[in-house]
Amino acid sequence: MSAQIIDGKAIAAALRARLGDNVAQLKIAHGRVPALAVVLVGDDPASQVYVRNKARQTQEMGMRSIEHKLDVGTPEKALIALVQSLNVDPDVDGILVQLPLPKHINEATVIEQIDPAKDVDGLTEASAGRLVLGKPGLRPCTPTGCVLLAQGVLGDLTGKTCVIVGRSILVGKPAAHLFLEQNCTVTIAHSRTKDLPALCRTADILIAAVGRPQMIKGDWVKPGACVIDVGINRVDAPERGAGKTRLVGDVDYDEAAQVAAAITPVPGGVGPMTIACLLRNTVLAACARMDWPVPEGI
Ligand code: GUN
Repeated sequence: MSAQIIDGKAIAAALRARLGDNVAQLKIAHGRVPALAVVLVGDDPASQVYVRNKARQTQEMGMRSIEHKLDVGTPEKALIALVQSLNVDPDVDGILVQLPLPKHINEATVIEQIDPAKDVDGLTEASAGRLVLGKPGLRPCTPTGCVLLAQGVLGDLTGKTCVIVGRSILVGKPAAHLFLEQNCTVTIAHSRTKDLPALCRTADILIAAVGRPQMIKGDWVKPGACVIDVGINRVDAPERGAGKTRLVGDVDYDEAAQVAAAITPVPGGVGPMTIACLLRNTVLAACARMDWPVPEGI
């Protein structure tokens, strides 16, 4: 058997198209569009690419993109002052501080300054607390993307067993709560878990978020499972020529695809959903802040 490939690119594009329609409706109804402020400190090339993509996709959806690019030597105090000014700016609905920040800046201190109502990354303690307590709030983007992809394949997730390999603050822990919200039976596995392959084989939905290239093998996968691979690892690819590299996930894709019913590729699976969910959060933040009804279907 060969698994259905979950086309994250296409699913993200469809979500962005729906959001674009919603933004157009909001503009007609309320005379303004949601605005996302992105703050980039320094000139890390990967971060520059991410920020450019976020700004482009924000504008393509008809929303307003506000970019703040700060010098690598910007003091922490100045960054905090900028975040505080965005918090009180009535024209800003969402704030994203691109990570990683330069070494002299404490990331947690800066993130904690973001008004939870504008925390479109879902990274503040208030957002995390609201998720754990089952209260409404802005949810982290990558784990939300995982839930949307699983729902795209399986529909209602009620009663499914979900094993999440990895307990990071950015993915594993919030993913556990998000799948729990969908009435899944959730287990979080990590480096100290006993007999990890056997545990993974119990999963209807297997989420791989460990950051170890191709760690999860085909015989760890339950036949018919839905496998969602969050890992993005660059590995040497001598078969492509001397010095060449390629991206692989945390799952041994070729093996797992022989066993699973559905699987995300890397790249082109979870990755595109992360930015789409950021744009979705920006629309949701604008609706909550402005007391607008949340549009249908997002
Ligand atoms: N750097 C890489 N991915 C992300 C993300 O999703 N959010 C933020 N703030 N920084 C990132």
